[in-house]
Amino acid sequence: MLKLGVNIDHVATLREARYRGGAHGEPDPVTAAQICEAAGAHGITIHLREDRRHIQDRDVWKIREAVRTRLNFEMANTPEIVAIALKLKPEIVCLVPERRQEVTTEGGLDVAGNEFAITETRRRLNDAGIEVSLFIAPDQAQIAAAARTGSQFIELHTGAFAEHFADPIARAAELARLVAGAQQARSLGLRVNAGHGLNYVNLPTLHRVPDLEELNIGHSILSRAITTGLATAVKDMLALMAA
Ligand code: PXP
Repeated sequence: MLKLGVNIDHVATLREARYRGGAHGEPDPVTAAQICEAAGAHGITIHLREDRRHIQDRDVWKIREAVRTRLNFEMANTPEIVAIALKLKPEIVCLVPERRQEVTTEGGLDVAGNEFAITETRRRLNDAGIEVSLFIAPDQAQIAAAARTGSQFIELHTGAFAEHFADPIARAAELARLVAGAQQARSLGLRVNAGHGLNYVNLPTLHRVPDLEELNIGHSILSRAITTGLATAVKDMLALMAA
């Protein structure tokens, strides 16, 4: 069965918009993680960015404690964040690019250009009992390099597929690249996840990509939560005002 990891970074984005620098504030990513799990999500994904633009260090530890399913920790391959991951012990780390030089032309991690450093981090994380995934474009050279690093998973970058979804020709081309990428990865012994830009419209088409294990989805789920939850929030406030 295809699994869902919910990326809750944007819960923290909203909190930081009002409470940056404070020790508290709403909405709380820990509560969000618990709601996602109670609703059936198979995992929770968070990205501790070097610039701490959304998830903060304190969130990471509280979320680690609260998560009962599987914590997927997205991170750049930098000494500071690797040290945090080794202490945090998420079930899985997904290495993602944050700086321009780590990014391929197609937006995924440049594994081929950073093979040695990624292999070393992969080894240290695996030695600590943490599985490793690499967020890469469906590109032959990157997938081959990902296999050489010894990583357990790749996460195929679905950003181009999502971006071109409205154009049938470009959509078919992007879908074909994802299918070929998944097949190549499986043939090299890699397990395959996917994510970025997936939503309620493009998701059914993605089912044509074989062998996907888990999708990591954030923006569209949180956007829908706002629109579907807004009426209740307004009614709750009106009830308080009337009391
Ligand atoms: N996968 C990875 C590696 C990501 O960095 C992100 C967030 O950009 C996602 C999945 C989720 O993307 P989205 O918020 O567009 O669903």
